[in-house]
Order: sequence, then structure tokens, then C-alpha cells
Amino acid sequence: MVSDMRSYTIAVLAGDGIGPEVMQQADAVLAAVEDRFTLTFERRPADVGGIAIDNHGHALPQQTIDTCREADAVLFGSVGGPRWESLPPDQQPERAALLPLRKTFGLFANLRPAIIFPQLRSASPLKPEVIGEGLDVLVVRELTGGIYFGEPKSRTADRAVDTMVYTRREIERISHVAFQAARKRNGRVTSIDKANVLANGVLWREVVTEVAAGYPDVELGHMYVDNAAMQLVRNPRQFDVILCGNMFGDILSDEASMITGSLGMLPSASLSSSSVGSTAQPVFGLYEPSGGSAPDIAGRDLANPIAQILSLAMLLQYSFGLDEAYEAILNAITSVLDDGWRTADIMSDGCRLVGTADIGSRIAAAVRDR
Ligand code: IPM
Ligand code: MN
Repeated sequence: MVSDMRSYTIAVLAGDGIGPEVMQQADAVLAAVEDRFTLTFERRPADVGGIAIDNHGHALPQQTIDTCREADAVLFGSVGGPRWESLPPDQQPERAALLPLRKTFGLFANLRPAIIFPQLRSASPLKPEVIGEGLDVLVVRELTGGIYFGEPKSRTADRAVDTMVYTRREIERISHVAFQAARKRNGRVTSIDKANVLANGVLWREVVTEVAAGYPDVELGHMYVDNAAMQLVRNPRQFDVILCGNMFGDILSDEASMITGSLGMLPSASLSSSSVGSTAQPVFGLYEPSGGSAPDIAGRDLANPIAQILSLAMLLQYSFGLDEAYEAILNAITSVLDDGWRTADIMSDGCRLVGTADIGSRIAAAVRDR
């Protein structure tokens, strides 16, 4: 190559519901990042979810898998909606697209930050004295093992079997992700299990404890999952990084995100490597908002695009090591919130109500402005 300017390829899977309209705003922000940092990103769109069922007969067509494989990272919108709800469960967009995508690309490390922006503190359903100065929890969820994928699985008329399996290796690699993330944050990991009942939980606890020996600077605690569900609403500020298996992480990450009161604000990353965050080594990953496709408000310029924009920011940081671009997007969102601009889901007294496209272009403009 003549120029030393780096070029990156992003597979863009907008999907269904609010996916396309929030993705359009993320794309506008990406264009602003290109201008400000003199970078180029090649976007390769592909169908996924319900729209892929309509256009290609399958929620995850081979050509979409190929597009993802050729890309450096995947920016994902959301899938599903009433139109496809009558399909058999294993053909529905959520299951037939997301689970195979995770498995195909070995995306075992799911990072789900639950953050309360100081400007949005009043949106939390918890009392102000419980929230205090704010909340910043990171759920690290194992995403390609456990009861979601364990064999045997079967179903007859009167009996259904799912199997919870974890191997030492699977627990080790997700533990490293949690400890490395904690090092860059507040240095605490709470590992979640059900060791009082499940053999799986006993192994989980043993292996996490062994891995912790390599991170003497990180404080490790263990909690049974039922207690953790309770502690998250009683005193969420005791948590920094919450480390869980697949199903417990599914449940606790929804709970953690609800505590922030603004589902439309939360991004997530699913990675295929244990080395997390601004590394020189690019890491393949899939980045998506934590909230769903919200079909009830789709196409009405009502959705909050911030989760999608933050997912893009995580992509730039984790997959490409572009820390400055990440910071620029975060600062742009903060300044737009500081100026009082709000979509309906985060609206409060004294603020200014705007739509999806309006707040998106304000964030893009703030990225260009610096
Ligand atoms: C999630 C979703 C998925 C999961 C479903 C849609 C398969 O709830 O990403 O949390 O259970 O993992
Ligand atoms: Mn879930």
C-alpha cells in the first residue's frame, strides 16, 4: 500500500425494528469520526433476522456469515418482531441469528456495561440514596457455553432436556476477561455461581479462584446467583465486574441494565479473545445495543440511538484500539446530554425532547466539533 493510513472493514447488520434507524445514526457518527481522525471505514451491509428470513428464507444466511468473516468487526442492530413470532422457536430471528453468530465466530466473551450517566440519574427506578453518585457495573457473561449449548438437548411431548456443561478451559478464558477488565476499572470481580446446588458451580468457583491467583491486584468475591440478584437492587454500588456463566449472565445483565433506568443507552460487546480493550492486536467482535428491536416504536423517529452509537464506540476501542475515537464519541454524547437534548425514553422536566435523527446528528456534530 502507498499510504500508511489504516482502513477498517465493518460488517453492518442493522436487522429489524428500530435497528435500521438507530444504525443510520451510528453511521452518521462514524462519518464524523472519519472526518475528525482522517480514517476510513468500509461498511458492508448484510441482512440478518426477520428481514433476512423475508429476503433469503433464513435468519442468518450464508452470505451474511461470509460478510462478517471478511470484516474486522460486526456492528449489529437488533432482530425480531411480531411478524416472525409465529415461526417455530428455533427459526425465530433471535435464536436463529444470534446464537449461531456467537458460536460461529467463537464470541465467548460478552461485555455488558451498566452505567448511569450523571445527567440521567433520576431515570433509575432505585432510590437516590441507593444509587448515590452513580453506577458503573460491567457484566462479563460467558456466551458460547453453559446450558445454552450443552448436550444432550432434547424435546418430546412430555419431557424436555437442556444440559449445563462447563469445562475448565471455558471458565479460565472468561475469567481472564473479567480480571483484565477489572484491572482497568475498580479492581474488583464478583463471580456468580450456584455452587451450593450445582457441580457446575463448584467447578466454576474452583477455576475462577485459581485464575485469580495470577491477578493479585484484583479483589475476588463469590456470590450465589440468587443472592446476587437481590444484592443488585439492595446495593448495586458494591459491584465492579460481575463474572457469570451464560444463563446467569443473561438474567443478571438485564437486571443490571434496568437499574440504570435507560435501556436505550446501553451497548454491549461480544469478543472472541481474552485480551480486552485498547490492545495493539485487533480483536474480532460483534457489538450491539442491549435493548431489543422495540417493534412498537420502530420507524417513528422515537428510538434512542445512543446504545447503538455507544456500541460503535466500543467497536472502535476494543476491535481497532482507537481509544481517541472512543473518547470523542463518549464526550460528544455527554455534551449533548449536558445541553438537555433527550429522546422520549430518557426525557425529564426541563429537558428538550427530540427524535432519533435529531439527537444522532447532534452527537455527530459534537464529534466533529471536538
Ligand atoms: C440476549 C438475548 C439472547 C440471549 C436471546 C435473544 C437468544 O436475551 O442477548 O441477552 O438469551 O442470549
Ligand atoms: Mn437476554
